[in-house]
Amino acid sequence: MSTTPVPSFDDPAGTWNRRFAESGYLFGSEPNAWLREHASVWSPGARVLSVADGEGRNSVWLASRGLVVDAFDIAEVGVAKARQLATERCVTVNFAVADCDSYGWPEATYDGVAAIFVQFADPAMRERLFVHIVQSLKPGGTLVLQGYTPKQLEYRTGGPPLASHLYTEALLRAAFADLEIVVLREYEAEVAEGSAHRGHSALIGLVARRR
Ligand SMILES: C[S@@+](CC[C@H](N)C(=O)[O-])C[C@H]1O[C@@H](n2cnc3c(N)ncnc32)[C@H](O)[C@@H]1O
Repeated sequence: MSTTPVPSFDDPAGTWNRRFAESGYLFGSEPNAWLREHASVWSPGARVLSVADGEGRNSVWLASRGLVVDAFDIAEVGVAKARQLATERCVTVNFAVADCDSYGWPEATYDGVAAIFVQFADPAMRERLFVHIVQSLKPGGTLVLQGYTPKQLEYRTGGPPLASHLYTEALLRAAFADLEIVVLREYEAEVAEGSAHRGHSALIGLVARRR
């Protein structure tokens, strides 16, 4: 079992590029389980953004479901692997290398946003990121988000070992107060998503719709 090392906030791109330079897929090549469970909120043809998409497991799977997918990540090595995965699976994803603060977030554009394990963000960055996510959704568009709760600090089976980066129901309710909460659940589960997210885990999942 491997726990994400304390991220280098001085050089996040370098840190993640080094991690993604290893062979294989750090979080696997299949989609996150919460995303798989809830992606039916989007119909084929819907336009969806995968935030901090890593090595592409989520964006490529969404594209294989007939969605029109944009994806970005700060780590160019991850994005290169994501492009390769899309080619292998014969799907098209509009990939970009970008920091979440500099991504050209379009306004009221997406039918969906997938934000899966984006807990690199400290509270200040998280606030900016969540505002961008909400504003990029069309009215009626749906956010599907997955993260770890503070209980995960006891399990150390993935995620940053930093309480300030983890989510509670109260935190997500407050952050997404302008959205209609469709599902918000804290739960524990066995996770098997690559080598970095593996083992008994304290998770939180959100599905929320822009009014
Ligand atoms: C735990 S991984 C999750 C990747 C992907 N969402 C998944 O579920 O497979 C976190 C991702 O955030 C990216 N990242 C870190 N800091 C970032 C930033 N400031 N802007 C955009 N992406 C960032 C990393 O490169 C990494 O791919």
